[in-house]
Amino acid sequence: MTATAPAAPAVSPADAVERQLQEQFDATIAAQHRIEPRDWMPEGYRRTLIRQIAQHAHSEIIGMQPEGDWLLAAPSLRRKAILLAKVQDEAGHGMYLYSAAETLGADRADLTDKLIEGRQKYSSIFNYPTLTYADVGVIGWLVDGAAICNQVPLCRSSYGPYARAMIRVCKEESFHQRQGYELLMTMMHGTGEQRAMVQDAVDRWWWPSLMMFGPPDTDSPNSARSMAWGIKRHSNDELRQRFVDMTVPQAEFLGVTLPDPDLSLDPATGRYRFGPIDWEELKRVISGQGPCNAERIARRRAARDDNAWVTEAATAYAEKNS
Ligand code: 3HC
Repeated sequence: MTATAPAAPAVSPADAVERQLQEQFDATIAAQHRIEPRDWMPEGYRRTLIRQIAQHAHSEIIGMQPEGDWLLAAPSLRRKAILLAKVQDEAGHGMYLYSAAETLGADRADLTDKLIEGRQKYSSIFNYPTLTYADVGVIGWLVDGAAICNQVPLCRSSYGPYARAMIRVCKEESFHQRQGYELLMTMMHGTGEQRAMVQDAVDRWWWPSLMMFGPPDTDSPNSARSMAWGIKRHSNDELRQRFVDMTVPQAEFLGVTLPDPDLSLDPATGRYRFGPIDWEELKRVISGQGPCNAERIARRRAARDDNAWVTEAATAYAEKNS
């Protein structure tokens, strides 16, 4: 009797379909095409996107607070109009992003609850106080500048609704960055006291702006997977370096000193070397121990609770008329 090879284990029809769907997904990612809401996607991809998009949306909404604090104290009608437009833009960004998360099956109210209960994060940068009007300019220049570095590549993110939302967000962030730089330029041409205010704000916001890009690549658990899926396009350290390279000449033109004695141009690479970042501070702020974390969340909680009746009335009206 001749020996026969053992039969290959049968693949169930469901497994075969799943494998085919996975292959289609992989081919779409490899071809740098977009995944759209109705396409099949691995559960991990969906979860990662919801995590990142929700964190991004929360950052935009919480990010209205530090600058919103200055709306009633803007030094002129012109500055007030500019600041109001900017803060409203941030609200719009949050709305596009929550909509993008909804296309993945997330529920907006549930995401807000998770933020308020500390189960989802928002950017560390918005946990620092805005002490003078120069902070408004420095947030525009440094924080929105960092946001642009981080978010322009996201216009090529593999998930269609996120990438498309980023196009408008980045155009508006570009305006935010310019208005900040223009405000600082005006102050730097003003009195000695105004120049000192700008320098003080730069001293306080420089290092937290570098932390916005996230932990170093060696300590970034999500980067490799997110980059393989095309959700993120560059690593945290690469984007941080781009930001430093872009910003140092702007600081020189403005006439401020960046608070880093180790900052120097590496002639071999044409890139700026910079000093060590205090990663313990980033960890503290992310874990809720930053200077303003409690205040930011308390205000967001109050906004949700105080305005619940509007949502209820709008929902009841929509149901009645559907
Ligand atoms: N603040 C708070 N949490 C941060 C953080 C920061 N600056 N940097 C990283 N983290 C968190 C991550 O969310 C992750 O937490 P989780 O796994 O529990 O969700 C953890 O720290 C480890 O970091 P990773 O590098 O592994 O995480 P990611 O791969 O997600 O990278 C990111 C972090 C670079 C912020 C990335 O999520 C990203 O590019 N997000 C999109 C942009 C965004 O959210 N920007 C926030 C600022 S929005 C803004 O600036 C508004 C504008 O108006 C100024």
